[in-house]
Parts: sequence; C-alpha cells; structure tokens
Amino acid sequence: MVLLSSDLYSREYRVSPEDIWEEMRNDHPLFYDDIGKMWWLTRYDDVKNVFSDHETFSSSTYDLTTGQVVGPTLISRDDYGHVVRRSIVAPDFVGKRLQTYEHLILECAENLIREFSSSSNVSLVREFSSQLPVDVISAILGMEGDGDLFRSWVTDMIMGLSGSDELREKGLDANAAFCTHIAPLLDGVDNPGRNDHIAKIARAEVDGHRLTREEITAFCGLLFIAGGETTDKAIANMWWNVLSDFDIRDAVLDDISLWDNAFTETMRRTPAVISEDRFVTKPIELYGREIVEGERIRACLGAA
Ligand code: HEM
Repeated sequence: MVLLSSDLYSREYRVSPEDIWEEMRNDHPLFYDDIGKMWWLTRYDDVKNVFSDHETFSSSTYDLTTGQVVGPTLISRDDYGHVVRRSIVAPDFVGKRLQTYEHLILECAENLIREFSSSSNVSLVREFSSQLPVDVISAILGMEGDGDLFRSWVTDMIMGLSGSDELREKGLDANAAFCTHIAPLLDGVDNPGRNDHIAKIARAEVDGHRLTREEITAFCGLLFIAGGETTDKAIANMWWNVLSDFDIRDAVLDDISLWDNAFTETMRRTPAVISEDRFVTKPIELYGREIVEGERIRACLGAA
C-alpha cells in the first residue's frame, strides 16, 4: 500500500495509529517523512538498535527540546557523562529501593482520593492521574508548597518543548519560578538529615566534582518533565484498558497481583511514550537507503 507522510499527521493516525504502524513494519520499515523531514523506524530490532548504539544515534535532539527549557541535562548526552549522572538517581527508582517510597506514594494517592469531588462519579484523569506524579516527584525532591502551582509549572515546561517560541517563553518562565522555589533547598545539602533527592543530587560527585547549581536545578527540572506526563499517561491508559473490559476489571478486582500484568500490558499496547528522536552522527545505510550525517531518525517505540 502507498503510505503518505500526511498519513502520519492525520486524525486517523492520532486516534488509532496501529494500522499504519503495521503497514510501516511490513512494507516501509524505513520511511522518509517529508513533512517532519525525518526517517521513521518501526521494527523492534531497528528501534532497539537506535536506543543501543549511542555512537551512531545521538540524543542531542534533546538540546532542541528539554535543553531549551530546563538547560543541558544528561538526557541529551551520549557519553559517559550520561551514565554517571543517571546513576545518581536511577538506583533509587527501581527494585527494593523504590519500595522505600511506597509509603510516600500511598500518602500522596490518599490525599487525592480524600479530595475527590464525589464518591460515585470521579474523573480519574483530572482528579487523580494528572495530579499524582507531580505530587510524588515534588515530595521525593523534598519540595513543599502548592501542588497546583507545581503542576502548572510542569505543564508549562512540557508545553515549552513543542517548538513554539511563545510556549517556550512560558516554559522558561515556569522553569525560572521552579528554580527560584528550589534555590533555598540547594543550601545545607550536607546536613546528614537531608534524604531528599535535591540533596542527593547536590552531594553526588562526577569525576570528583559536585554538579553546579545550574546543573542541579536542570536535573530536577528534567525529573519533573520526564516523570510527570509519562506517569500520568501510563496510569490513565491502564485505567482505560482495565475499565473498558469488564472481564479484565473483574479479574484484577478478584486478584490484585494481576495489576502488574495490567500495567505491563498497558505499556505494550498503549505506551505513554510513542517515539523518541535521534540525530545520525555518521553516514549509514539502512534497507538500501543512504542516511546522511545530521539527519533525524524517529524510533517508534509504540510500533515496535
Ligand atoms: C510510565 C512512566 C515512564 C515512561 C513510559 C518513561 C519513558 C522514558 C523513555 C522512553 C526514556 C528514554 C528517552 C530517550 O532516550 O530518548 C526515558 C528517560 C528518562 N526518564 Fe522516564 N519514563 C517514565 C517515568 C519516569 C519517571 C517517574 C521519572 C523520574 C521521576 C523519569 C525520568 C527519566 C529520566 C531522568 C530519563 C533520562 C535518563 C536516560 O535517558 O537515561 N521517567 N523515560
């Protein structure tokens, strides 16, 4: 079948991209999108390769998005600097160490549930999934204050990544307000009683040096924007999948261990992140086509 670039920007694609992804995987595993001026990859092995080969596929695309709003962070780096900075926070966010946050996460969830507008009819997105991530991340960072204000900053910062100058200005204003808010928390980080992540990031050393204040605030801003919308969408999609099918709903209500499966399947079927872009650092050949240095590749996780 003929695939047009405009298909990737159509209403049909936004509502239900699966058919187009299937067509791309089968007939156009490498597709040049002349509207977005980039190549799309949709097969599992190709997408995996893009995420694994940092020398050929550079994350410097993020310099044009997150870098423009929060400043330079690990996410746009391809070198060892990425790995060491990631290791400052990553171990706390997986496995047993993540469980130490269970109490804090439950408390944030219970606070939201207590505020539900009604006991019978609730908007799970507006009143829960869109609120919880920022509450949890700000608590982990050790921030105190108005959750609604923090959420409005995160929304503006994320909107600022869109490429529009006007929205970027708004994103920068939100980031400036965020930096001012956390500035006092950058003092006294050596106090042994400080267990929050701002202190952990500030105490960490990279090649024998601590991060600068700018690097620390950019790092915290990245956690907000990387963790906020993704988790909101993942929770919302999971609820949607479970509540759209009575058999699944009844199964998870009967056996709470099945929630893990519900979440994992949500991430496979309706992922919160559909694609990520990379710049090609050297000329390569894929599927018999030449891709030149500097071109953009979109690795479509949702299709893979
Ligand atoms: C279901 C929720 C989440 C999804 C689907 C998700 C997805 C992703 C993906 C696909 C990347 C790779 C981006 C790329 O290489 O281009 C990424 C990176 C990252 N995410 Fe998440 N994320 C989630 C939750 C979070 C949370 C809660 C946080 C922090 C509070 C977070 C922080 C980060 C950071 C700092 C990076 C950059 C680190 C790196 O690339 O090594 N994410 N995430």
